Amino acid sequence: MAKKFLVTGGAGFIGSHLVDRLLEKGHEVRVLDNLDRQAHPDIKKDVFLNPKAEFVKGDVCDKKKVGKALEGVDGVFHFAAAVGVEQSMQELNYYVKNNSLGTSNLLEVLATTDNDVKKIVVASSMSAYGEGLYRCENCGLIEPELRSGEQLKMKKWELYCSVCSKKLVPVPTPETKTQKPNSIYGITKKDQEDMTLLIGKTYGLKAVSMRFFTVIGPRQPPKNPYTGVIKLFLNKIMKNEQPIVFEDGLQSRDFISVHDVVEANILAMMSNAANYESFNVGTGKPVTIMETAEKIALLYGSRIMPKVTQDFRGGDVRHCFPDISKITSKIGWRPKRTFEGTLMEIIEWSNQRVEKN
Ligand SMILES: NC(=O)c1ccc[n+]([C@@H]2O[C@H](COP(=O)([O-])OP(=O)(O)OC[C@H]3O[C@@H](n4cnc5c(N)ncnc54)[C@H](O)[C@@H]3O)[C@@H](O)[C@H]2O)c1
Ligand SMILES: [Zn+2]
Repeated sequence: MAKKFLVTGGAGFIGSHLVDRLLEKGHEVRVLDNLDRQAHPDIKKDVFLNPKAEFVKGDVCDKKKVGKALEGVDGVFHFAAAVGVEQSMQELNYYVKNNSLGTSNLLEVLATTDNDVKKIVVASSMSAYGEGLYRCENCGLIEPELRSGEQLKMKKWELYCSVCSKKLVPVPTPETKTQKPNSIYGITKKDQEDMTLLIGKTYGLKAVSMRFFTVIGPRQPPKNPYTGVIKLFLNKIMKNEQPIVFEDGLQSRDFISVHDVVEANILAMMSNAANYESFNVGTGKPVTIMETAEKIALLYGSRIMPKVTQDFRGGDVRHCFPDISKITSKIGWRPKRTFEGTLMEIIEWSNQRVEKN
């Protein structure tokens, strides 16, 4: 049955793909987005508003705008957020305001005013975990802290058991792993999901939190070094320059196609089995950063090799990839796109953008 949805952050990367898909499925969609300059450095090129969706320009921190945006809506996808790990360690207020306060404001309006909203799905993040889950051959499962600055200065890249010093082996991270965010961004994402689930349970508003891993696809914000490593590598390769790889290049990431993420969110909204749950949304098949750079070059048709700097950024996670058995068994979602296919899609999209310039 067709429904009416509000997508906050619906002019951004993931939100705009979700809007397109909801419209394709015959639903009505309203977007609430303040077209934040960080997400949209070039308003002409980086705003992706489907003309079939109704657009309300406004801030999720603005009660009046939120109230108006909720009129007649059955369900909310809350995707509006300031995104970026490193930057959040300098612009604390900006992240806490947009993410934590933005979410508390939306929830306050939902909880205390007359409205028809029955369910909310909130975009959370792997950043709320910090390091992933590991296994020590002698001591069993370990939830390690981040590597220290001292360790990184010695170029000891992997993680070691704090009890017996054995090298740790990364294993899939389930939703039950303790969330130990290691950035202000991660803290605000945890805030967003905790507040949404708590207010949801308290007021009988069905709620789901979705912990996205590294989402990739066309329309990726060009300037964000954390979500945008693929775009950064590709930009270098297109200029015939070597992509810069930190550490030894063997750190891994779990890249998930934006189209798969969109399907997971729609399933979570439609399925009662998802209510009041948190789900990992990733592939469960991590790739190393080195492999990623090499693959992009190969698919682009370039012979350029990545430059491994043995340099590091404090705060980087070494390995964190999801156990996706919960989302598969509860709501039947599993990723369908291949890494290579998604990389090709990004390359084609980037080529089109270059042609347009
Ligand atoms: N991209 C990833 O890999 C990734 C990973 C994990 C989680 N997430 C989460 O997914 C969601 C969408 O991320 P994205 O990658 O599409 O980012 P994006 O920056 O492309 O989109 C975010 C959108 O929210 C809007 N926005 C920001 N602050 C707002 C505010 N106060 N009021 C109204 N609108 C506001 C921006 O203008 C932008 O259009 C975010 O909640 C993000 O934290 C993304
Ligand atoms: Zn041990």
